[in-house]
Amino acid sequence: MNGFFNLLQNPLRSTPARMVAPDPLDAPLLWLGKNDPWTIRNACEGTAIFGATGSGKTSGSGQALAKAFLSAGFGGLVLCAKPDEAELWRRYCQQTNRSDSLIIFGPQQPYRFNFLNYEFTRPGAGAGLTENLVRLFTTIMQVAERQRGHNSAQDFWERTTKQLLRNCIDLVAIARGRLLLQEIYDVIVTAPSTPEEVGSEAWQQSSLCWRCIREGEARPKSPRQANDFAHAVKYWLREIPALSSKTRSIIVTSLTSMMDIFLRGTLRELFCTTTNIVPELTHEGAVLVLDLPVKEYAEIGQFSQTMMKFIWQRASERRDVRRHPRPAFLWCDEAQFFTTATDADFQSTARGARVATVYLSQNVGAYHSQLGQAETHSVMGNLQTKFFHANGDPMTNNWAAELFSKSWQFRGSAGTSTSEGMTGRQSVSKNFGASDSLDFEVLPQQFTSLRKGGPEHGYCVEAITFQGGRIWHATNKNHLKVGFSQR
Ligand SMILES: Nc1ncnc2c1ncn2[C@@H]1O[C@H](COP(=O)(O)OP(=O)(O)OP(=O)(O)O)[C@@H](O)[C@H]1O
Ligand SMILES: [Mg+2]
Repeated sequence: MNGFFNLLQNPLRSTPARMVAPDPLDAPLLWLGKNDPWTIRNACEGTAIFGATGSGKTSGSGQALAKAFLSAGFGGLVLCAKPDEAELWRRYCQQTNRSDSLIIFGPQQPYRFNFLNYEFTRPGAGAGLTENLVRLFTTIMQVAERQRGHNSAQDFWERTTKQLLRNCIDLVAIARGRLLLQEIYDVIVTAPSTPEEVGSEAWQQSSLCWRCIREGEARPKSPRQANDFAHAVKYWLREIPALSSKTRSIIVTSLTSMMDIFLRGTLRELFCTTTNIVPELTHEGAVLVLDLPVKEYAEIGQFSQTMMKFIWQRASERRDVRRHPRPAFLWCDEAQFFTTATDADFQSTARGARVATVYLSQNVGAYHSQLGQAETHSVMGNLQTKFFHANGDPMTNNWAAELFSKSWQFRGSAGTSTSEGMTGRQSVSKNFGASDSLDFEVLPQQFTSLRKGGPEHGYCVEAITFQGGRIWHATNKNHLKVGFSQR
């Protein structure tokens, strides 16, 4: 009995060492130095790659990481900034024998993903549905508006927009038993604009908002739906008509202008018709490349890929990693286009979800301009491995140098001075000195002289690597210069 109790208190004590299986997360993906593995666990703690244009982000560290993920059998989601990105991933997949896993999602391809239908019908949807969709729409709006600076007025608009969305989604979902973006849009634009209009027959006959209220009243509802529906009806018939027309039009247009682009052309076809792929495929090994490059499709590419990233992140958080243990990666080149405030949140749980995020961007300023300073630091602080390629940007170089921190450096000096006295005789004096000073471990200017690949650098790309809390064996320091072959 005593022995059994002891075992409960310290189960490992009686386990022979040889029976402790190695944690699969500790498997090396890359060797950054002879004794410096970069493991799946390290990858799942997130990576940020910085470097000027042509410094070798894509063909250096990017290529090495991408191929390591593919060779290890990861699935993944790839967001595209440049038009040649899908082709690049096609090549990576060929070179790592993963062509069978590749799914290119784009206008010329047969794949479709009706995001509202997916959210509405996926297992486990229900209690969280409305809030999840509200967060999804507001995330896209954040990208659309990129309102910087936090003030109470902004809070007001954010709150009221979320309120409108919440009430609209509840009304349509309960009344129609499905969610179509076109109907969400139509309910918003046919809402009553004055208290008098609510009683007007002309409005009632032409308004989808009114029709949904009537249909919802007639439908059988669970107690929770009955409560949410009654709340939504009060909102549409009392609150909305009582708002000043200016306030209402700001809320309405900020939403409809974002929805509008999903309701026409390429995005409607891809995201609002049928569904023949789902994000969960990446958890089974699919490499899903969103071929809607921002450089070609501008905001259409930005909104749709940010939306897919959000949905994919939520799907990855929901995944049961015991049943689906295969790690997956999230790849964003020119990541500033796709980063949102919710990324820091996601990143803090990414290791549990076995997601290896890689963000590539030229400099910190690019993130600042999209996210603001505080959010940039929050997102970057959660990406543990950082590769710094050649860069001439002082802000990034100083930030990187600060990251590597300072240490006491010993400086010796020696000199000779000559002086001529009043008598015209020269005297020579020699001096020797030594001092300690607190200096950068890696000087900001060291980032300007790293090798950038191409024939002039022997096809070698260099980066200085940092990983939160890690001392590299090769240097016994927190910085490590790593060379990557472009070939
Ligand atoms: N496979 C390759 N073989 C040889 N040289 C290459 C290869 N790929 C790129 N280069 C060259 O190496 C340099 C680095 O290119 P790379 O595209 O990796 O830079 P980058 O940092 O990703 O730039 P950007 O910010 O423009 O995306 C460039 O001069 C490029 O022309
Ligand atoms: Mg690149």
